[in-house]
Amino acid sequence: MAGSSYGTIFRITTWGESHGKGVGVVVDGCPAGISLCEEDIQKYLNRRKPGQSAFSTPRKEDDVVEILSGVFEGKTTGTPISLVVMNTSQRSHDYSEIASYYRPGHADYTFDMKYGFRDYRGGGRSSGRETIGRVAGGAIAAKVLEELGITVCAYTKSIGEFTVKSENFNLDARDTNPLYMPDEKTAKEAEEYLNTIRENTDSAGGVAECIVKGLPAGIGEPVFEKLDANLSKALVSIGAVKAFEIGDGINVCTSLGSDNNDCFYFDGNGISKETNHAGGTLGGISDGSDLVMRAYIKPTPSIFKTQNTVNKSNENISINIKGRHDPIIVPRAVVVVETMVALTVLDMMLINMSSNIENIKKVYNN
Ligand SMILES: Cc1cc2nc3c(=O)[nH]c(=O)nc-3n(C[C@H](O)[C@H](O)[C@H](O)COP(=O)(O)O)c2cc1C
Repeated sequence: MAGSSYGTIFRITTWGESHGKGVGVVVDGCPAGISLCEEDIQKYLNRRKPGQSAFSTPRKEDDVVEILSGVFEGKTTGTPISLVVMNTSQRSHDYSEIASYYRPGHADYTFDMKYGFRDYRGGGRSSGRETIGRVAGGAIAAKVLEELGITVCAYTKSIGEFTVKSENFNLDARDTNPLYMPDEKTAKEAEEYLNTIRENTDSAGGVAECIVKGLPAGIGEPVFEKLDANLSKALVSIGAVKAFEIGDGINVCTSLGSDNNDCFYFDGNGISKETNHAGGTLGGISDGSDLVMRAYIKPTPSIFKTQNTVNKSNENISINIKGRHDPIIVPRAVVVVETMVALTVLDMMLINMSSNIENIKKVYNN
C-alpha cells in the first residue's frame, strides 16, 4: 500500500488496521535532545479516544501508547521513534456482514475495486483508528514546536448549523464539553441537536478550526510545496474531511480586493498587517500573522438507518449496519486536525532551514 508516509524531513509512517493487533507510527527526522515521555503523547491520544461521551462511539478503548525506540533517558536520540497502541476492544463479529456488502459513504467499495481484497473488520486502514498514528506522531511535532514558541490549537467551530459565536468564544470552555466547542451556549444547543440526530439513527457533520500562533514570517515554498497547499493535503487526508479553507476561504470569491487585501503597517518593531483575511500565508509562505484554517467534515457514514446498497453478488439489498460508530466525527477529529497541522508546520520549518546561506552559516560557521 503506497502513501502511508507523510512529511519530508519530519516524516511519519502510520501502520495497522483497526481490528489487527495494534496500530502505530514510525517518526523519522525528529531532532535529538527533545525531552519526551509517553505522557506527552498520551495526553493527545486521550482527546481522540472513543467512549468518552454520548457523542462518540461507545467502544471503550484505552489507547495506551508505548514508545519502542528513539528515546533514551527521557530524551529523543535523533533515531526513528516507534510508537505502538495495542487494539483491545475489537468486536470483529459486528463487522462480518460488511464483508459481503458495501457501506454507503465508506471506503468498502473503492477498497475492493483497488485491491480486490480487504480487511473488512471496522474499515481496516480506512478506519478512524488509523488517525492514532497521526496524533501520536503529531504530538511529538507539537512538543518540538512548543520549544520554538509556536502553539497549535484546534476546536470544533460548527456542528450542523450550530456555529461558535465570536462574542461567546472562550477557549477554556473547549475542554469542558464533549463537543470540544469553545462556546458553552452553542455547545449545549449542538448537544440537543445531536441527541435528536442520534434518536433518528442518523449522523451529523461540522467544522474543525485550527489556529497556529507564533509562526515567524518566511516559512513555506512558493510553488508546489506552498504552506497552504500542504496544510490542505494534511487535513483533507483525514478520513471524512471533505474541504479545507484558509483565512476567509470560500468567501474571498464574493469579496472585493479593497476588502480582501490585508494592508501592512510598521509597528516600530516590524511589519504587521491590519487584518488577516489571508489566514497567515501569502504566496505559499507564512506572513507572521496567525495561521487560521478550517476542515469541513462530513456526517459519519456508518448509520443505523436502513439503507440501500449492493452486495458482492451484485444484488440490490437493504442493510442495517451493526457495530459501534460515532454519531459525529468532528469532536474526535479536532485533535487529529491539530496534530496534522503541527506535523506540517514543523516539517516546513525544517525544510526552510536551507533556504538561504545565512541560515546555513548559522549552523556551520559557529
Ligand atoms: C477520528 C475519526 C473517527 C471516525 N469514526 C468513524 C465511525 O465510527 N464510523 C464510520 O463509518 N466512519 C468513521 N470515520 C470516517 C471514515 O474513516 C471515513 O469516512 C471513510 O474512511 C471514508 O473516507 P472519506 O470519507 O474520506 O471518503 C471516522 C473518521 C475519523 C477521522
